[in-house]
Amino acid sequence: MKFSTLAIHKGEINIGKIKPVITPIFQTTGFHLTNEVYEKFLKGKEREVWIYTRHNNPTRKAAEEKLAAIEKGEDALLFSSGMGAISSTLLTFLSPSDHIVSSKHIYGGSYNFLMELKNHFSIDVTFVNPDDPEGIIDATRPNTKIYFFESLSNPLLRPFIIEGAKKFAEKRGIKIIVDNTFLSPYNFNPLKKGADIVIHSATKYIGGHSDLLAGAVIGNKENIEKIWKRLILFGASPDPIQCFLIERSIKTLAVRMERHNKNALEIANFLNLHPKVEKVIYPFLKGYYNSDYAKKNYKGGGGVVTFKIKGGNEAGMGFMRELKIVKEAPSLGGVESLVSMPFNTSHYSLSQEERERLGIEEGTIRLSVGIEDVNDLIEDLELALSLV
Ligand SMILES: Cc1ncc(COP(=O)(O)O)c(C=O)c1O
Repeated sequence: MKFSTLAIHKGEINIGKIKPVITPIFQTTGFHLTNEVYEKFLKGKEREVWIYTRHNNPTRKAAEEKLAAIEKGEDALLFSSGMGAISSTLLTFLSPSDHIVSSKHIYGGSYNFLMELKNHFSIDVTFVNPDDPEGIIDATRPNTKIYFFESLSNPLLRPFIIEGAKKFAEKRGIKIIVDNTFLSPYNFNPLKKGADIVIHSATKYIGGHSDLLAGAVIGNKENIEKIWKRLILFGASPDPIQCFLIERSIKTLAVRMERHNKNALEIANFLNLHPKVEKVIYPFLKGYYNSDYAKKNYKGGGGVVTFKIKGGNEAGMGFMRELKIVKEAPSLGGVESLVSMPFNTSHYSLSQEERERLGIEEGTIRLSVGIEDVNDLIEDLELALSLV
C-alpha cells in the first residue's frame, strides 16, 4: 500500500462485535485484569495486553501502528511531547561516561538537553556539522554510543547525510538517531537510508493543526521495546485524546504536506527575488547547501522557509508585526502560517556569538508556511516587506 492508503487504513482497533469505522477514544486509566492479562504480564509480555494507560492504550496503539507504517519502521511509540521522546530515547541507550556526536544545528531544546547530559550525567557531547560525514567520523571516540542529528536542521535547514557515516557507525555499534520533524514521514524516511531510530515532534506536521503536543519514536521491535521500558518509567505517556487527534491527523498528512511543499517552494522563490531579503534557505532552491542531495532524497522540501531580512533583528521584528495573515508565534507545521525569529525563541539559549558562528545571523526569520492560498500569503509578505 502507498503512503495515503497506509495513513488512512493502518492501525484499526477491533473491539469485539462493535466495529467502528474510526478508532474511538479509550478514555480510561486502566483495564480489567483477567487471567490472560496476568499470564502475559508475568511472562514479561506486558506490551501485548491492556493494563494501565501509562503503559499502553488501544487509541495509542492505533496511532502507533499508523506511525510505524508511514515512517517505514517495524514499531512505534507515542509520547506526550517531542522532548519526552528525545529525552527518553537518548537515556535508553546512554550510561554515564558515554559520548554522543551531535550538532549545534538542532532545536534549542534538544541542544539544552544535550548540555544537561554533559553537565549533570557525565555524558560528553561533540558538536559537528550534520552534512560533514568526515567530521562525524573524526569526532567519534571509543565510547561513542549515539549519532544524533536532525534530518533537516532547525532553523537553517542543513541536511544530515545519513549514508555518510552509516558503515562506520554500524561497525562500532553506534546508533544513528534522526529527528525527522522538519521533513515529516511524507517527505523522507530516514530508516530507509540507514538510521536506527527516528524521532518526531508530532506537535508539528504529524499533528498538523497547532492544537496538541506529542512526540513519536519509530524503529525496529528490539529498540522500541527498550525505549518503551523507559517511557513507562519516565512517564512521558500521551493522553488517549492526544492519541486520537494524532491518529486522525495522520490521515490527512499526505495532502497537507503536498500543499506545504508547494506553497513553501513558491514563497521561497518569491522571497529570493525580493530586494529587502538578503538570503533565502530552502532545500530545493539554488544556493542551498546540497540541493542535489535534497532533490534526490526528499519528496518535497517541507513547509519551513528560513530567510534573512536586510536591517537585522529590528527590521525582522518590524516585518513580523506588519503581517496580517501570517501569525507571529512559536512552533511550525500547522495548517496556518506562523513566523518567528530564532534569536528570541527556539535558539535564545545560544549566545549571539554562537548563533552568528552557526549562521543564525541578525535578521534571520523562520517562516512556517501553512496550507492557505499561496497568493494571499505572498500578498501579506509583500505588504509587510514594503513597510520596513
Ligand atoms: C526539530 C524539533 N525537535 C523537537 C522539538 C521538541 O518538540 P516538542 O515541542 O513537541 O516537545 C522541536 C520543537 O520545536 C523541534 O523543532
